[in-house]
Amino acid sequence: MLDDIKKIHAVDKSNMLAVISSLPSQIDRTKSLVSRLDLPKQNPSSVIVSGMGGSSVGGELIRDWLSDKMHIPIMANRTSGLPRFAGPDTLAIMVSYSGNTHETLACTEHALRRGCRIVGVTSGGRLEKLCRSRDFPCILLPPGMPPRGAIGYLFSSIAYLLQETALVRVEEDMREARGFLEEIQHGWTANVEAKNNEAKKIAKLLEKRTPIIYGHTFYNAVARRWKTQINENAKTLAWNSEIPEMTHNEIEGWARDSRGKKFAAIFLRDRHENNVTRNQVKVAVEMLGKKAKTHEVWAQGTTILSRMLHNMYLGDYVSFYLAVLKGVDPMPVHAIQEVKKKVYSA
Ligand code: F6R
Repeated sequence: MLDDIKKIHAVDKSNMLAVISSLPSQIDRTKSLVSRLDLPKQNPSSVIVSGMGGSSVGGELIRDWLSDKMHIPIMANRTSGLPRFAGPDTLAIMVSYSGNTHETLACTEHALRRGCRIVGVTSGGRLEKLCRSRDFPCILLPPGMPPRGAIGYLFSSIAYLLQETALVRVEEDMREARGFLEEIQHGWTANVEAKNNEAKKIAKLLEKRTPIIYGHTFYNAVARRWKTQINENAKTLAWNSEIPEMTHNEIEGWARDSRGKKFAAIFLRDRHENNVTRNQVKVAVEMLGKKAKTHEVWAQGTTILSRMLHNMYLGDYVSFYLAVLKGVDPMPVHAIQEVKKKVYSA
């Protein structure tokens, strides 16, 4: 099935594959969108990136990548409020691809009341209008994509925004990662046969089992991205979890619960893991392997960013091929739309 290009295109009616493959070019196009803005220049004491669903992933990836490089805290927020510390010294980055997400708009209102320095990231909607009416900067992204497919724009917007506000330098890493993603995606495209295509192989492994994706250090947001892409593209239940935390609780369930055999556990690995992490993952793989199917994904790339994005991008392709195996069109998200209609237009 996965080696039949015609069948792949028959399932992928709205061409999600093209959206996924546009990630490297999205990174290219974002820098100029950010550099033409008049951004808040005074040094903030904290950064909060708010967004939901596909619009939350960029902020979480940035937190995992840059927390260690920045001198101020950076928080990714997936609620409709802001923490008490948010105030005039906070750079509040409000991300909603559609610009109409209830939680993110509520956060923006909070940020206005608290006097935060707000920057919007959107393709339009009410968030753009709010930015214009209150005269705060807005990174305006090209419209017409599924929010989760705009990850390149969303992630790079935040990265370049932090660079433009002089909080961190990302230029070289971003350039390197962009070229690297372009190179590696060739190995995962539809015309590469399953026997040589890691994304297709992993999708097959997940076809009959519920995926749990384990991240650690720089790979926690990446693990969550796998989960959400599998949920939304393949319309499949999936969860993510973290090492070492799982060794302090979840592992008991794995040791005793016979339902463990229904799962496939994917471990996101890095050849530069420290010894403690390496041992933790090794033990977890051994213990889970007694019940679940396990698979380790080894990041490639020279920089941390490249390795993070390598592992993330592979998951995007896996979720796509899993959708194909399940015969579901990856693009539409009817259940999400139904919930939004029921909850927010009531
Ligand atoms: C749809 C998707 C969703 C949305 C979420 C928030 O592709 O990924 O998770 O991202 O419902 O909507 P936006 O991103 O428009 O703020």
